[in-house]
Amino acid sequence: MDNNSIRGAYKRYAPVYDWVFGLVFRNGRRTALKTLEYEPGDQILEVGVGTGLSLPEFPSYTHITGIDLSQDMLDRAQKRVEKHGLTNTDLYCMDAMELDFPDNSFDKLIVLYVLSVVPDPYKLMKEIRRVAKPGADVIFVNHFAKENPLIRKFESSLSKYAAPLGFQPDFPMEPVLENVGMDVKTIKPVNLFGYWTMLHGKYLDEQ
Ligand SMILES: C[S@@+](CC[C@H](N)C(=O)[O-])C[C@H]1O[C@@H](n2cnc3c(N)ncnc32)[C@H](O)[C@@H]1O
Repeated sequence: MDNNSIRGAYKRYAPVYDWVFGLVFRNGRRTALKTLEYEPGDQILEVGVGTGLSLPEFPSYTHITGIDLSQDMLDRAQKRVEKHGLTNTDLYCMDAMELDFPDNSFDKLIVLYVLSVVPDPYKLMKEIRRVAKPGADVIFVNHFAKENPLIRKFESSLSKYAAPLGFQPDFPMEPVLENVGMDVKTIKPVNLFGYWTMLHGKYLDEQ
């Protein structure tokens, strides 16, 4: 997978994304947003904001910065912002692996269904940690490879189709936990059959 194949995949997904993934991923999105304890004035970064399905759910007393690599997805997010009159949201076309924000910018960071989509998830994790304030909350929701040998074999066999699918089906959780640099608070199954996982943590003060 590279950024061009990802842009291509999400150009194809954008017109149907809300129909196909809106409901399927909704429980994970809502669980993630409910897990956070918001403070007035919180600066929130949503990485891979997509069509902006979560944007109307944030409290109006926070400020949300949404970034995405796909302009086609962002155009839909912008329409949602206008439809809901969200004055607390800014959207930018940006690569999550090279964020154009200063260090220590955000109080809360959420990354929903994006980790297994980017070519280098460890670069993404390093970059969002750089822009997070010390002690910031971070939430990832993602599908991680399953222990069950049959499912694992199935997911491995799908790996060769990662580029056209637009995500990596065989993506284990352990290296993420080792590299993310956060104090893990919650690991919770979400969505249908608990097939996806929410990871909530707080960044440790030392980078
Ligand atoms: C499966 S969608 C998830 C969208 C949204 N978070 C949701 O909850 O529905 C993955 C999103 O990640 C975006 N994405 C992929 N690679 C990215 C990158 N390097 N930087 C920023 N966004 C990226 C895609 O364009 C797409 O909008």
